[in-house]
Amino acid sequence: MNIVIFGTGYVGLTTGTALAYLGHLVTCVDIDEKKIAALRGGSVPIFEPSLGELMKLARENLSFSTRPEEALQDADVVFLAVGTPSSANGHGQADLSAVCAAATSIGENLRDGFTVVVNKSTVPIGSGNWVESIIADAHSSEDPHRLFTVASNPEFLREGTAIRDILYPDRVVVGSANPAAQAILRELYQPILDQSFEAPLFLPRPKGMSLAPFIATDVASAELIKYASNAFLSVKISFINEIGALAERVGADVTQIALGMGLDSRIGPHFLQAGLGWGGSCFGKDSAALVATAQEYGLEMPIVTAARSINYDLREEVVRRLLGELKILKGRTIGILGLAFKPNTDDLRDAPALDIAERLIERGARVRAHDPVALPNARAKYADSGIHFCDTPEDVVLHSSAVVLATDWPQYRELPWSLLGSSLSDPVILDGRNFLGGDAMAAAGFRYIGLGCQPRDGRPLQRGYVA
Ligand code: UGA
Repeated sequence: MNIVIFGTGYVGLTTGTALAYLGHLVTCVDIDEKKIAALRGGSVPIFEPSLGELMKLARENLSFSTRPEEALQDADVVFLAVGTPSSANGHGQADLSAVCAAATSIGENLRDGFTVVVNKSTVPIGSGNWVESIIADAHSSEDPHRLFTVASNPEFLREGTAIRDILYPDRVVVGSANPAAQAILRELYQPILDQSFEAPLFLPRPKGMSLAPFIATDVASAELIKYASNAFLSVKISFINEIGALAERVGADVTQIALGMGLDSRIGPHFLQAGLGWGGSCFGKDSAALVATAQEYGLEMPIVTAARSINYDLREEVVRRLLGELKILKGRTIGILGLAFKPNTDDLRDAPALDIAERLIERGARVRAHDPVALPNARAKYADSGIHFCDTPEDVVLHSSAVVLATDWPQYRELPWSLLGSSLSDPVILDGRNFLGGDAMAAAGFRYIGLGCQPRDGRPLQRGYVA
């Protein structure tokens, strides 16, 4: 099939590349000429494991353009994958100006055949109808609706594992009342639904994976499935963090609780890692947009609202903990390990690390920080933040009164902690992801503080064991 994708961000580029790999002819369109030139030259503008390799394998089917009027002339399916950031009004609604511009361009350039326009960006409930009206208004003919329909096909990819999530999904959801659109999109995804494509060597098919069901539903339900999924995952994380706060008070350990809860197949082990909570471009924005949409209908969303407030208070909680440990923050240096909102990405959007750094600097502390991948991004975007960016994690740890581990990059586990601990007097580590292991850090000479766990300081901890 001929596919056009509007937007070459995480969603557009990974989706376009995966569809090209499956054999579709894909044109990725973006208004950013520099980015398109770089993509044409073979460079990959984002850090996303497997993306570069897959782009190489798919290159014959993949092209890049700044000219939608040309690309749209052959398109069977057009995906809208442009950004929908939170709008500047502070009320949580998504800013849909990029969606509007792309839809207008689609309407102006609709070809004579039938085109399925797919909302892939996370857009507010009702956007299917809205996009349809923009396309129809922008088209010159009397009856544009015979030429196109708008479907919803939400993405469920995670940064860092986006390609894997697209090729080996849990489900494919398509919202459309139009049987032709449902059939076209089912055909588009058929190689994924029946796993008939050759798995790339660098990303083998997971052993024992089940085939993904195809959920054919109406547009509003598809749109809400996306919001509800992200909100549920956000709630799950905030729930375990709420339990963590109590665990600490009663002398329990939240990592043990998550293990014990997660083994219940009705609960599941995922998204129960307590710590600094969620960041990134999705959970914060989407939970705010969900609450804002509900308010338009006179509904409160108390569970989602509480999850948000628990999440964002964790960032202040880190500052409270550091105050409790160090007593004085003014003039002290605090180290931060990890800047990206999670490992395996260089994405800094809504990253807890940066929020914490800002709060510490406001209180007169100095901040040194490192990230294995996001450092260039951080240096470019936060040059005036007052954060001292360090090239090595050792340079952070050795010059700080206390260190906060903000992102659970695996390489931080491998640091020479004993050597670092013995070079410092009274070193403190606040493990914001409960990742480094309290016993190991205490043995390395650190005063260890986890979130939802008991502090360790080298003395043995009384604990029961499950055989
Ligand atoms: C999330 C969803 O997981 C995807 O399904 C969805 O498609 C995507 O948003 C989106 O809407 O585009 P993503 O934000 O890339 O994906 O990353 P996640 O792996 O979900 O992590 C989000 C945040 O939650 C990270 O900051 C992570 O550190 C935190 N987290 C995750 C926890 O604090 N605890 C956990 O147990 C799991």
